[in-house]
Amino acid sequence: MSNETIQNIKERRSVRKYIDKKIPEETLKEIIDCARLAPTGNNRQAWSFLVITDDEIKNKIASYARYGRFIEEAGACIAVFVNQDKATTPMQDAAAATENIMIAAKSHDLGTCWVNSYQKEHSPKIKELVNCPQEMELMTLMSVGYYDENDVSMPAKKFLSEVMVWDKF
Ligand SMILES: Cc1cc2nc3c(=O)[nH]c(=O)nc-3n(C[C@H](O)[C@H](O)[C@H](O)COP(=O)(O)O)c2cc1C
Repeated sequence: MSNETIQNIKERRSVRKYIDKKIPEETLKEIIDCARLAPTGNNRQAWSFLVITDDEIKNKIASYARYGRFIEEAGACIAVFVNQDKATTPMQDAAAATENIMIAAKSHDLGTCWVNSYQKEHSPKIKELVNCPQEMELMTLMSVGYYDENDVSMPAKKFLSEVMVWDKF
């Protein structure tokens, strides 16, 4: 009982090593098209998706983000911004869009890794670098790129039986 979507969800893993291969603009557009269709509280859609492919900007972001140095190698970096005055559920909205991005990327054979960036030390620096409007907040940041499957680590996952509960605890 499986299909391509289920397979992509099950096979997705964080990727932190990338090969030097350009991501077509159309692919990045389709990925963001999937992001913007994610659910939002009260359908606010108070977000912007910043796609960074410029090496200079990308390398600066990589140097700012202590746990995201691998962004430098990635073909692109995507940042999700939400207007916290307009959104009713900003983090949930951003997380839903982020997961859509990661699964859509996987379906294009692209690897991603979420880099923790909500109100972190590097967040103000990134906001300044990309001329982020004052009302927008950086919620999530991801590296996106082609990768060698042999380079992907497979962190252990809990078994279904450990986490699934029927009807009542
Ligand atoms: C909110 C969040 C923040 C994360 N931040 C980082 C990060 O800053 N750097 C990093 O290398 N991985 C980061 N990760 C990736 C996790 O380490 C990874 O998802 C986890 O180890 C499980 O591995 P998997 O994604 O391959 O299933 C983050 C993941 C989430 C959901």
